Amino acid sequence: MNKKIIDFLKNTPQVYAESDGAFWDDEHISKHMLAAHLNPDCDNASRKQDGIINSVNWIEKLCDGGSNKKLLDLGCGPGIYAEMLAAKGFQVTGIDFSKRSIDYAVESSQKKNLDIIYHYQNYLNIDYREEFDVVILIYCDLGVLSPENRRILLNKIYRALKPGGMLVLDVFHEPYIKSFEEMQSVSYEQNGFWSPEAYVVMQRNQFYEESNNTLEQYLVITEEHCKCYNIWNQIYSKEFLEKEVTETGLTLVNFFDDVQGKEYTGLEETICGVFRK
Ligand SMILES: C[S@@+](CC[C@H](N)C(=O)[O-])C[C@H]1O[C@@H](n2cnc3c(N)ncnc32)[C@H](O)[C@@H]1O
Repeated sequence: MNKKIIDFLKNTPQVYAESDGAFWDDEHISKHMLAAHLNPDCDNASRKQDGIINSVNWIEKLCDGGSNKKLLDLGCGPGIYAEMLAAKGFQVTGIDFSKRSIDYAVESSQKKNLDIIYHYQNYLNIDYREEFDVVILIYCDLGVLSPENRRILLNKIYRALKPGGMLVLDVFHEPYIKSFEEMQSVSYEQNGFWSPEAYVVMQRNQFYEESNNTLEQYLVITEEHCKCYNIWNQIYSKEFLEKEVTETGLTLVNFFDDVQGKEYTGLEETICGVFRK
């Protein structure tokens, strides 16, 4: 354990070095994440409710309505978008590797009598062929993945789309760097976000200029354990996003400032890309 602490303080990790454990699917952490998803005024896990409603309305418009359209929601969380899209007539399949979120989503759709298919699965393992009219990947999830995993996922999305099908995704955009603060901190919690036991958390925020990556790194130390969580993000320019996605064979339809359809200015911290097969 001492070695881990020394390593944390001595070295910054290689870009996209993996975490010690599942973050989204951790028994304790996922409870806090689910609560954050379901809080309409919090944007830690899902966007705030007003933003989600705007996104769903915009996606419906982009698709000329939802009826008879099959939509794949990658990283669907507890199904907030999935339910609103299903209510608009989309036939929705949601995939997420948080068991807690998927269990919640299944129960909620049953209560609301919505016909949504959910899978507890890593979306890097999907294997669909020309099944979907629309694929969505919302809340900057692409840039969390390493370049190799992004290539794998984008190729799988290409295969999953019907000819003419559409991909809608958002990622962090260059202006985000201005608000990202490098820092290090140490704090003690009795029972908090990272563990039900008392713990010390050491945090480091680091910007990797050469590759345009941000890292939020947390070393969580309890009496018995020491785990390191690395949350990576790729910061995109519009050219970089276009290159990465169109390498699969998809073509660019348009860029927007956000996944609510705000016209592209290039000044916002996110960029949304719409692509077609
Ligand atoms: C930032 S949240 C966004 C959730 C949802 N798209 C929204 O905006 O409300 C990321 C979600 O993606 C899921 N996720 C991350 N990586 C995944 C993977 N490789 N396979 C499946 N789900 C994944 C997480 O469990 C989490 O629910």
